[in-house]
Amino acid sequence: MTLHTRFTERFGVEHPIVSAPMDLVSTAELATAVSRAGGLGLIGGGYGDEEWLSRELGAAAGTRVGCGFITWSIDAGLLDIALSHEPAAIFLSFGDAGPYVEQIHRAGVPLICQVHDLAQVDEALRIGADAVCVQGGEAGGHGKGTRSTFTLVPEAADLIAAERPEVLLLAAGGIANGRSVAAALALGADGVVAGTRFWATRQAAVTRGAHARALAVNGDSTRRTSVYDIVRGKTWPPVYTSRVLANDFVVRWHGHETELVGNLDAARAEFSHAVEADDVDLANMIVGEAVGQVHAIEDAGDVVRSMAAQAESILIGAPRERPPGT
Ligand SMILES: Cc1cc2nc3c(=O)[nH]c(=O)nc-3n(C[C@H](O)[C@H](O)[C@H](O)COP(=O)(O)O)c2cc1C
Repeated sequence: MTLHTRFTERFGVEHPIVSAPMDLVSTAELATAVSRAGGLGLIGGGYGDEEWLSRELGAAAGTRVGCGFITWSIDAGLLDIALSHEPAAIFLSFGDAGPYVEQIHRAGVPLICQVHDLAQVDEALRIGADAVCVQGGEAGGHGKGTRSTFTLVPEAADLIAAERPEVLLLAAGGIANGRSVAAALALGADGVVAGTRFWATRQAAVTRGAHARALAVNGDSTRRTSVYDIVRGKTWPPVYTSRVLANDFVVRWHGHETELVGNLDAARAEFSHAVEADDVDLANMIVGEAVGQVHAIEDAGDVVRSMAAQAESILIGAPRERPPGT
């Protein structure tokens, strides 16, 4: 028994579960583990490091995976590199995907646009996205943070049904286990995109210190902030902030961004040293509220299978003793 949705049919996968394209964290190892377990794994093209991208796409050859990018930071040449590997999907977030639609469709590749509010859903429908991924503010990493998954998904489902019913809807933000997969499908999604839950797997490119900290904190422990964008010199459009662990660095600088800019050299040195030393009190640990539902660092394929089985037991009513957790 498996959950069949429009997403599983259209993308030819067993489970309606996608691993997010987390910049540098979502390697070929992670994406292929997810795809081999019946989900759809996405490689994290992020800001577009060509060498990294070519290596990871090459390493994934033979397994159907997709690739995601931070739209405001890419160009058509980078996209061509990804398209030459015949990805299962291109996933674009944060910025105007319009200039790339024709190039992606010419290559016969489906486009998934990740968006954060209804105005952006409308825009994704207008430019011709094949699937729209709506991300609530509980998500790890960047986003607008103005809407929650629980209200955005059903409103987006209704909007898509009214305007372009053939377009698929994916839900992202706070999806950590079968309970949240079932909830997202019940709210009208055709599938889910999970980041934090796959960050917390053995195949993710994440340090030991960060994984250990994830097991020690709960969903109260994160905050949306721009302090790490400032210290890393990433010029994000101001509407986007990033949800990260609220560690000592965030507590010190969040709300004091002008002072941070004034102390940038010292803060950068401290940050770089912390990254090298795997000191997650100071280095950025990008996780969403779903970190509170991570209780073990598991195999990514097992995560796909257990999420799917739990969602199936809730939605299809297979025998179970109690609603399963993680
Ligand atoms: C460590 C990390 C890095 C991320 N990097 C990216 C990225 O490079 N591009 C992108 O589109 N989304 C990125 N995201 C956001 C995801 O696409 C997705 O929206 C989010 O992880 C979903 O929420 P969740 O973390 O609660 O599952 C990242 C998320 C995390 C946790």
